Amino acid sequence: MSLAEGTAPGRMDRGAAGGDDAEMARFDEIMAADGRIEPTDWMPDAYRRALVRQISQHAHSEIIGMQPEGNWIGRAPSLKRKAILMAKVQDEAGHGLYLYSAAQTLGTDRDTMFEQLITGKARYSSIFNYFTPTWADMGSIGWLVDGAAICNQVPLCRASYGPYGRAMVRICKEESFHQRQGFEILLALMRGTDAQREMAQESVNRWYGPALMMFGPPDADSPNSQQSMAWNIKRFSNDELRQRFVDMLVPQAEVLGITLPDPAIAWNEERQSYDLGDLDWTEFHEVLAGRGQANAERIERRREAHEGGEWVREAARAYARKQAEAADAAEAQVA
Ligand SMILES: [Fe+2]
Ligand SMILES: [Fe+2]
Repeated sequence: MSLAEGTAPGRMDRGAAGGDDAEMARFDEIMAADGRIEPTDWMPDAYRRALVRQISQHAHSEIIGMQPEGNWIGRAPSLKRKAILMAKVQDEAGHGLYLYSAAQTLGTDRDTMFEQLITGKARYSSIFNYFTPTWADMGSIGWLVDGAAICNQVPLCRASYGPYGRAMVRICKEESFHQRQGFEILLALMRGTDAQREMAQESVNRWYGPALMMFGPPDADSPNSQQSMAWNIKRFSNDELRQRFVDMLVPQAEVLGITLPDPAIAWNEERQSYDLGDLDWTEFHEVLAGRGQANAERIERRREAHEGGEWVREAARAYARKQAEAADAAEAQVA
């Protein structure tokens, strides 16, 4: 069934959720009116699955994304930079937690999602499988990676699933701070010595392509996108978002005095947008297939952290048990 044939998107798969015609019609109505679906509303299985996949991948990306920057907390060049970087990495942990909570409202528990992440079954953004050898990489990640995340995520504030859209509102506010702090790191380096300017440029050269690939493959090769757009989860195509991102970056690069590593970038008067060159998708697919610089290390470290945290979960469970017992005892006394 193709959407181009005018089929209502929700009608594709009611699946085990069952749902009578009235429920399906109600869902379709909400979609057509660009309304919101809440956790207690009926929804088709395929819609629920698509959301769990997207929200959990997003949550995993926030959590794994703490590692490349966490790497520099102990080596930040000043106390001020260290405090800012720590706050930023903590924000990312918070984003992961809001998003796991949003995914849980769809009926998938957190242990299952953690398990999928540490056994390598779940995906997360490939961008976090690159190493961060220089301090300038903290600038590039903020400016380019958080910058791409904002372009991707601002439209998600209007996602049709309520808990996801609401989580994104707060996340986007924090991502704007992240992008500015990255820009500011690069600006300070570009105003510094020749060696600092070179470090900034070299870092941007490495991160630019992978950041553009964060929007996903070209529209022609992106099978899930059309359905997500019909369900008002995604609002713009991968290529549209990539274009917006480049249009935002070019003037900022000029302020920085940094050259974006794509000689094909040129203003297109007719489109009122910048043209850009082709990306090396072979590398993207290599990283996606688990053969990036840091794929194995990222998962291994997450697994260690998860196992190392078992005592905290055990303590929390014991505390909850004690509280429940105390409440029961108090109730028994009243009775
Ligand atoms: Fe984030
Ligand atoms: Fe961020």
